[in-house]
Amino acid sequence: MTVTARAYEEALNLLEDSEHARVFFAPGRANLAGAHMDYNGGRVMPVALSRGTYLAVSPRQDGRFLIQSAQFPGEAVELSPDDLRPGRVKSWSVYTEGALYVARRAWGELPGLNLALSADLPMAKGLSSSASVEAVVVYALSHLMGLNNGASHPDQIDEWVRLAHAAENEYAGVRCGILDQSAIFLAQPDSLLWFDCLELTREHLPLDAAQASIVILDTGVSRQLARSAFNERVAECTQALGLLQKHLPGITCLRDVFPADFAKFGGELTSTLHKRVRHVVTEVVRTDLAADALRRHDLAAFGATMTASHESMRVDYEVSISELDAMVAAAVAQNGCYGARLTGAGFGGCVVALVHPDAREAFDTNVAAAYRVATGREVKPQWFAPAGGPREIVANLRGPSV
Ligand code: GLA
Repeated sequence: MTVTARAYEEALNLLEDSEHARVFFAPGRANLAGAHMDYNGGRVMPVALSRGTYLAVSPRQDGRFLIQSAQFPGEAVELSPDDLRPGRVKSWSVYTEGALYVARRAWGELPGLNLALSADLPMAKGLSSSASVEAVVVYALSHLMGLNNGASHPDQIDEWVRLAHAAENEYAGVRCGILDQSAIFLAQPDSLLWFDCLELTREHLPLDAAQASIVILDTGVSRQLARSAFNERVAECTQALGLLQKHLPGITCLRDVFPADFAKFGGELTSTLHKRVRHVVTEVVRTDLAADALRRHDLAAFGATMTASHESMRVDYEVSISELDAMVAAAVAQNGCYGARLTGAGFGGCVVALVHPDAREAFDTNVAAAYRVATGREVKPQWFAPAGGPREIVANLRGPSV
């Protein structure tokens, strides 16, 4: 898809002293394998998108922060560093504040700043708009304070992941794992990230652009009750782990429950917990199959794991909604579509599909028509190649290079 820099201009235009500004960008992400695996210690396979959050930032002499967003006009937040504390706000600025809070705790006193944000990623649609805000703020602060040891330094990247994740957990109160922040900071163009959320090992698996594109299909339904329902799933997994540990004392997370263990001890769980664990146990297997398929360039086999994962999220994890199901059905019925599934937490938001680029025209028309018939809603598919991670944007006379 065409990269738009409108959000870059929007962020910059919010600053009164834009001539002193630096601009940073962090992408959103889609996850193609390993659904709800991160907080269960499993493996995930995300890509970064070329859309995300732009942050224009300029210095202030009074030591305070002014936070503005082009998506929330007239709702500027001004505060001093001592005002930052978890629970202070639940509104849009919570992710920026969270990043400032954790960065100050880790790195000491921060400089006073004007922070102006704009995103070209839809919010609350499962594409990690919140993690892209946390990531861009942490990344920018690290650069502004001269702390970065170089973007490719693994320890530095791991620290950025930890801080952005702490902002979401501690300040925004979402008990998520490290999928989103790892996907964003570890992203490399034209590759899927394979990431083990327990061992923190990683690999970049190339995706052949001539054979496959990432297609985002927005159901038009924002995530419903995302925070509470998401935290409920995390709590169910914690509870199931506690029960299974009575029989399997060596396990530290649900990813350690093998299918044979589950067959032996799963019957002791309530039917709800049984379904949740069945999703995890089968998704661990599917994610390993997905990685093997990609390593041998078998996109049909990879896509089949995506569609099976959606089914498991629909039936066992119960995080889908009818619009997501209709979108997956519309996508996988098309020629050239390898597979499709919801991306992110679920409860609304987007489907991610893997599609042959030659099928683009027919896919766009036919999916829109099928989705309209099924739901009465419209969809405009967005096509992407896997993109890179956060970066500073250096403007030139013809505009920003993004
Ligand atoms: C949300 C969370 C992630 C992950 C996914 C489900 O996006 O933020 O940490 O748990 O849901 O895979």
